[in-house]
Amino acid sequence: MDDIKKISGSTRVYAIIADPIHHVQTPSAMNQLFAARGDDRVMVPFHVNESELGAVVAGLRGIKNLDGFIVTVPHKTAILELCDSVSDSAKLVGAVNVVRRDEDGSLHGDILDGAGFLAGLRQRGIEPAGMSVYLAGAGGAAKAIAFALAAAGVSKLTIFNRTASKAVELIQRLSAVFPATEILLGSDDPAGHDLVVNSTSLGLRVDDILPLDVTLLTPSQIVAEIIMQPAITPLLVAATQMGCRIHDGMPMLLCQIELMAAAMATNKNEQNHEYI
Ligand code: ATR
Repeated sequence: MDDIKKISGSTRVYAIIADPIHHVQTPSAMNQLFAARGDDRVMVPFHVNESELGAVVAGLRGIKNLDGFIVTVPHKTAILELCDSVSDSAKLVGAVNVVRRDEDGSLHGDILDGAGFLAGLRQRGIEPAGMSVYLAGAGGAAKAIAFALAAAGVSKLTIFNRTASKAVELIQRLSAVFPATEILLGSDDPAGHDLVVNSTSLGLRVDDILPLDVTLLTPSQIVAEIIMQPAITPLLVAATQMGCRIHDGMPMLLCQIELMAAAMATNKNEQNHEYI
């Protein structure tokens, strides 16, 4: 909390907008990053409900020392329409999780779930290009990760989701953008893939079922999570027991924090900084 004493009139301000907000860890992680770099920047949590999002975002345009904000549940889709421009990734995924506010108050949105996941894998020496990948989930995070994996050049992508229609729709959208990539609808059987990714929310709660049939995992497979809390989910425990290499959700969070800091930087040199 010592850094709070250093906040002054020249400190650049960032926000995270969510509902509920009490559980967010991002301000602490982001403020640690700012402090480690000696940046005069601070992030604060804003608790905003869905009906107030438009009014709040309109007001944020006028705050001249606000450089940007992170957007999370339940606003990732609604914020897209409130931005003046969005990245190609955000357009494809249909969601935004970070917004840069330029000097004139204009807002530019991006989605970094996919880039953060890829950076986290690569930071641990896992290169998905050429791999066959099994992805459980077809929600917001899954969409971003699926597009990022396809863009990274996976040889095959198999998607399985409880609600199959959502997986089918995602496969159609992916196939339109990446016609050369083999993209298939899967079952709960992850066999035959180099990399197995859980991008559902299963594993967050202690009584959750497993997202896939872990008895069919083989030791040559890498099993990855996007859940950070708990760090070792029941899926990762089971994957370890089956002899697989595991990749937890923490690298994705840490890489995404750095990518978000860069995405909200108004200084072009900082935006282009090689963070990973
Ligand atoms: P996020 O933005 O975190 O990705 P989301 O868009 O609500 O959240 O997506 C949650 C994902 O977890 C979905 O793939 C969801 O499956 P459905 O599309 O069938 O809802 C999956 N999921 C959540 N609870 C689940 C459960 N009990 N069993 C199976 N899948 C579940």
